[in-house]
Amino acid sequence: MHRFIKPLWVTLLAACAHTAPPPAPPTAAATPADTAPNQAWWKEVVVFQIYPRSFRDTDGDGIGDLRGITSQLDYIKSLGVDVVWLNPIYQSPNDDNGYDISDYRAIMSEMGSMADFDAMLRGMHQRGLKLIMDLVVNHTSDEHRWFEQSRSSRDNPYRAYYHWWPAEKGTPPKRWSFFDEEGSAWRYDSTTRAYYLHYFSRKQPDLNWENPQVRREVYAIMKFWLDKGVDGFRMDAIPFISKDTTFPPLPAEYAGNYVAYYAKGPHLHDYLREMNQEVLGRYNDLNVGEGGGVTVDDALKFVAADRHELQTFFEFDIVDHWGRRPSNFLYADSGNRSLVALKNIFNRWDSVYAQSGWGTVFLGNHDQSRMVSRYGNDAPPYRKASAKMLHTLLLTMRATPYVYNGDEIGMANIRFTDIRDYRDLMTINYYNRLEREGGDLREFLASQAEVSRDNGRTPMQWAADTNAGFTRGIPWIRVNPDYRTVNVAAEERDTSSVLHYFRRMIKLRKAEPALVYGRFQLLDRANPDVFAYARSLNGRTLMVALSFSKAGGRTSVPAGYSAGRIVISNLAGSPLRGGQLLLEPYQAVVLELQKN
Ligand code: GLC
Repeated sequence: MHRFIKPLWVTLLAACAHTAPPPAPPTAAATPADTAPNQAWWKEVVVFQIYPRSFRDTDGDGIGDLRGITSQLDYIKSLGVDVVWLNPIYQSPNDDNGYDISDYRAIMSEMGSMADFDAMLRGMHQRGLKLIMDLVVNHTSDEHRWFEQSRSSRDNPYRAYYHWWPAEKGTPPKRWSFFDEEGSAWRYDSTTRAYYLHYFSRKQPDLNWENPQVRREVYAIMKFWLDKGVDGFRMDAIPFISKDTTFPPLPAEYAGNYVAYYAKGPHLHDYLREMNQEVLGRYNDLNVGEGGGVTVDDALKFVAADRHELQTFFEFDIVDHWGRRPSNFLYADSGNRSLVALKNIFNRWDSVYAQSGWGTVFLGNHDQSRMVSRYGNDAPPYRKASAKMLHTLLLTMRATPYVYNGDEIGMANIRFTDIRDYRDLMTINYYNRLEREGGDLREFLASQAEVSRDNGRTPMQWAADTNAGFTRGIPWIRVNPDYRTVNVAAEERDTSSVLHYFRRMIKLRKAEPALVYGRFQLLDRANPDVFAYARSLNGRTLMVALSFSKAGGRTSVPAGYSAGRIVISNLAGSPLRGGQLLLEPYQAVVLELQKN
């Protein structure tokens, strides 16, 4: 019943062992007619995501705090990024690390005070950094005042803020929960003899967006933060806000793919348009939705400029394809390591935005394991090269790049082997369920070592000091023991580090409009080891060639072009041999192409 992966490396190394024959020269890359689409500041920025709980602790409670972020603003600025996205820092009982909010207008006690927030925001703005906040409004905490009222009696004015199913109607039609230990998204509440809906944990009841009063509350919260000066929002689980509130039995065609059914309910676009009219359209903000369930076919309904809904969203095809896929709501591994398929996904998404809308690109965040461990190779001989190669990818796509804290120094998976080390409710609850059902716990733990969210949540590694310089107390989650070599201080000293390369890549993106707005053209599509593409704008064409393999790889300059200057490379030697590129393992190069 429960199938989990072979260790990631077994599959990855098998895939890497394949060496491609020299590829045939691909067809012409780009034409001088390539011109920039509508320009906007939020298309040109690089966003740095901070997981505040694990970033920097200043008061010794083992949990990162706002003063910790403020103390590192010069570091953040030095990266060259423009915008910071903070995971939730609002008051919360922390069932799901802040994604269960009990007060949207207060700061989580462990993280500091509103005065600390104001000082942090001022410090960011003084340095020309913008701030976007996480907006979590599909659900609240069950400890939010609204829910406490709502559950207190059937005729309480807050009753209709949530979805209730009275017990006299019988058991509600099956809905699965992402996080619940027993699997059901309906939780019986004896006070009023009714079930409430929670797609996530039982401490995260879903808000009822059908109720205009709920929507007004949300818009008021958004205005509160925008008026304080924040520069926009990352919108958590936003396609889930609209639901068929008659809760019919799950339609048969969605069997096994509940996410597709849960997301994009009947009024979603009405709500997003209303939110835009009431709030977003009135500010010069940056917004990005978490786009679970959004596909290439309906993407533009969310982000085409004339729709007046969102600017951008995160799509999940890339991260779901390579390394992890929700299976029955647990993130398990898809086992598919095909680079060719991955390239096709990038290509497909780029073509969606070729005429309208704008995309985002990310390879890691707080819900994913570490980028270098999944798409690169974190074994010591390859960690640096492959992390730099992945940054080359992130920073040369036609989309707004989101970089997750720690990835700028190439932090890797911790790979816990003991359930007691885990802190994420998703892993813990599933483990408990499996234990009760007599499932294969060893196989589960082997899988989680590669794919669990906690891999991406271990403390930021600042220095080779105790606890990696993250805290003087006891860290809330274990520090990755590789901090003695992988840390900011060491990488600052070493000019060949991932950190220095990351800064150079950002500078390159800023200096080359072709890397932001230029046409994207996939080259050498069938090559199983190398991801190669051209970016062209106003007659300037850059070629990017990335080896995803321990065996290196080869590709060639496209027909009709010859190779010009190499503008950046993650390794010392040049891969160019005439029109051929012979890439070392995980080598990345960006070079100029000249038309013959
Ligand atoms: C989003 C968040 C994730 C959280 C979930 C529930 O997917 O990124 O961390 O657990 O929503 O809020």
